[in-house]
Amino acid sequence: MGGLSMDEAFVQAPEHRPKPSITEADGIPVIDLSPLLDGGEAAVDALAAEVGRASREWGFFVVTRHGVPPGAVARAAEAQRAFFALPPERKAAVARSEAAPMGYYASEHTKNVRDWKEVFDLVPNQPSPPPADGDLVFDNKWPDDIPGFREAIEEYGEAVEELAFKLLELIARSLGLRPDRLHGFFKDDQTTFIRLNHYPPCPSPDLALGVGRHKDAGALTVLYQDDVGGLDVRRRSDGEWVRVRPVPHSFIINVGDIIQVWSNDRYESAEHRVAVNVEKERFSIPFFFNPASSTMVEPLEELVSEGSPARYNPYNWGDFFSTRKNSNFKKLDVENVQI
Ligand code: SIN
Ligand code: FE2
Repeated sequence: MGGLSMDEAFVQAPEHRPKPSITEADGIPVIDLSPLLDGGEAAVDALAAEVGRASREWGFFVVTRHGVPPGAVARAAEAQRAFFALPPERKAAVARSEAAPMGYYASEHTKNVRDWKEVFDLVPNQPSPPPADGDLVFDNKWPDDIPGFREAIEEYGEAVEELAFKLLELIARSLGLRPDRLHGFFKDDQTTFIRLNHYPPCPSPDLALGVGRHKDAGALTVLYQDDVGGLDVRRRSDGEWVRVRPVPHSFIINVGDIIQVWSNDRYESAEHRVAVNVEKERFSIPFFFNPASSTMVEPLEELVSEGSPARYNPYNWGDFFSTRKNSNFKKLDVENVQI
């Protein structure tokens, strides 16, 4: 493979390169969410227990029969393909900037190694009230001339947000809390955003990654992936990288660092990465479900006791988020997490 022609910026250290063959993660829990639609209280409790087990043992799971209309997913995926097919100057017209970090960019770095991908970030909800002077501006930059683009993204954002709230309820229940215990953190001024990812074919998939190893810093990620495959998760039981096989009409859910902190380590965010391939391009859409920027993130008091003291000091999510957004923008990736 064309290792020598590969731009050095993309080359992973030998210990982080993907192995030529990788196990498919048959063990990743696949959870049917239909009891939310037609089940009684006992069925929903059983479902919450399943979500709890998956969050504890993997930090990752797949959901099916989740209530997001297939048409909404198909329209978002179509809008995504149309956007990335635009010529470079049209994509540059909606490029992100330091002060307004939503938009297009092609030079994401994870842990100082460049990722083999291009990205378009959008918010499903415009923040209200408008940002104060000096705050980051989370406005969308809509591309011209892609019919239905905005409608498709807004429809998708709304449907997936509904699913994200249902998952939040299941997680709260699974921790023995009131189903709406976590909702208040997401009421106003969410920092949730949608990322359209495009991973072009790569001449050296043995050296580069689509996204380097990282954990998600937010609360919960709801991820659509197409049928190409490439997402690897580090299995907790033995530390091995395993591939998450694409399941049609499903979403992949992963617990982020905020749920790890709220749960006081009952659940843990899992490390993951994306491998690329020589022939096929790949598309994915993570929905990063993040609380209001004013949120102080700390272990929930119900989960702290003398026998189980708080394992984290409180931190302000908005400060963390804007610093990370900026430091990513400046390509100074210093920690283990990615926003
Ligand atoms: C990510 O973890 O940032 C992307 C996941 C994917 O493309 O499957
Ligand atoms: Fe991620």
